[in-house]
Amino acid sequence: MKEKEGFKIENLTVLAHCGDRLNDLQEYILNCAWEGQTYSQMAKNRHLSEQYLKNQGSKLYEKLSAALGEKVNKNNFKEIVQRYSQKPCRDLKEAPDVSVFYGRTSELATLESWILGDKCRIITLLGMPGIGKSALAAKIVAEVEHEFEYVIWRNLDHSPSLTELLVELIEFFSGGVVSSTFKSSISQVMDFFYSHRCLVVLDGVEKLLESDRQYLSNCENYGCFFKRMAESNHQSCLLITTREKTPEIRLLESIIPVIRCLKLSGLDSESAQEIIKELPGELEWESIIKFYSGNPLFLKLALNKFQKNFSDFNLIFPTTNNLFFEQIGLFLNDFFSRLADWEIQVMVKLAQSEQPLSFEQIFSILKLPNHVNPLDFLESWEERSLLEKQRLGLETFFTVQPIILHYFRYIFFNSI
Ligand SMILES: Nc1ncnc2c1ncn2[C@@H]1O[C@H](COP(=O)(O)OP(=O)(O)OP(=O)(O)O)[C@@H](O)[C@H]1O
Ligand SMILES: [Mg+2]
Repeated sequence: MKEKEGFKIENLTVLAHCGDRLNDLQEYILNCAWEGQTYSQMAKNRHLSEQYLKNQGSKLYEKLSAALGEKVNKNNFKEIVQRYSQKPCRDLKEAPDVSVFYGRTSELATLESWILGDKCRIITLLGMPGIGKSALAAKIVAEVEHEFEYVIWRNLDHSPSLTELLVELIEFFSGGVVSSTFKSSISQVMDFFYSHRCLVVLDGVEKLLESDRQYLSNCENYGCFFKRMAESNHQSCLLITTREKTPEIRLLESIIPVIRCLKLSGLDSESAQEIIKELPGELEWESIIKFYSGNPLFLKLALNKFQKNFSDFNLIFPTTNNLFFEQIGLFLNDFFSRLADWEIQVMVKLAQSEQPLSFEQIFSILKLPNHVNPLDFLESWEERSLLEKQRLGLETFFTVQPIILHYFRYIFFNSI
């Protein structure tokens, strides 16, 4: 088919997504429709009956309508094609810059096999503040995006309602008319996820949750959306970054194999060293990295702090005594302000213990409220990296990251 006014039918995302290639007659019908010809003119030029062409045309428009999730006909076909031709299929302007990125090779390999190999429908990247969830998400998106027709990244910092998010998704996908009811806008997005391979990143899903890990009042519908994404057999992928799991995701990942969660620990020692390699002074790399548990944000803050002070005073070296400073405390305040009162009491108790604790010790020291099941407690605290499991010989012990211990000792006992 020849090019017309910058329109080349082979290049049309819209048509390519219909699945089969267009046959010669279908191309003819669209070409003529593009030029504004009537079915009677089309029929004359091809020596075919007008009725036959009308039937073929209506089947073709039905197919296009199904693929696009909006009504396409002979009269609006040109306008829709023009709209689609101008529409970008990538919106990554909210994704962080990952031009400097170290390590995470095994995490990237796992994510690639989950996304491309297993075609997972929802993948959660879970971890502490600053551990590198958004950076890892941006890196894997850069690696796999060529496999997707549409890729969009949305930051949830402002806790948008689901309706706001769906409107943005629909506008991005189709530039089309947004349904007026909530139910139909979910369906419109789901239709798109069936007929197109889309990668959607929702960054910072914990911003939709209250401190008791239930949804904020304007965000309750997200549960419904995650459930539809998990249970329907579409071809798209939702990549989530979060500090805390949402209730549905926790449930769904235990029953649906293509719903997965990758919990991030700190960077390995080599990658962490790359971040702080410009720290001044004689360094005990390992102890600094261990103190921050390889958290790249804390390592970057420390680098900045000590570089600045070293150039001013020429004598302040990083040692394990001065690695906990105000900026890190402020960052953790936000995270710990989400703990329930009883959780803070439990943490204060844990902060008094110097040694790793066994399962029995934990529950002999800690007083959990009656409504809290000990297994739920361990699971939820491990998920949020408040407790870390460690195997010593045959027994499992629980520890708390040094930076968290320091935080609680500093806040509650004013000593480090
Ligand atoms: N692998 C890495 N190599 C180099 N820098 C990294 C790496 N991972 C993360 N960083 C840097 O560490 C900082 C924190 O990372 P990021 O914002 O991804 O954390 P996060 O887990 O998303 O935190 P939050 O929970 O606050 O959203 C950023 O400045 C980021 O560039
Ligand atoms: Mg983030």
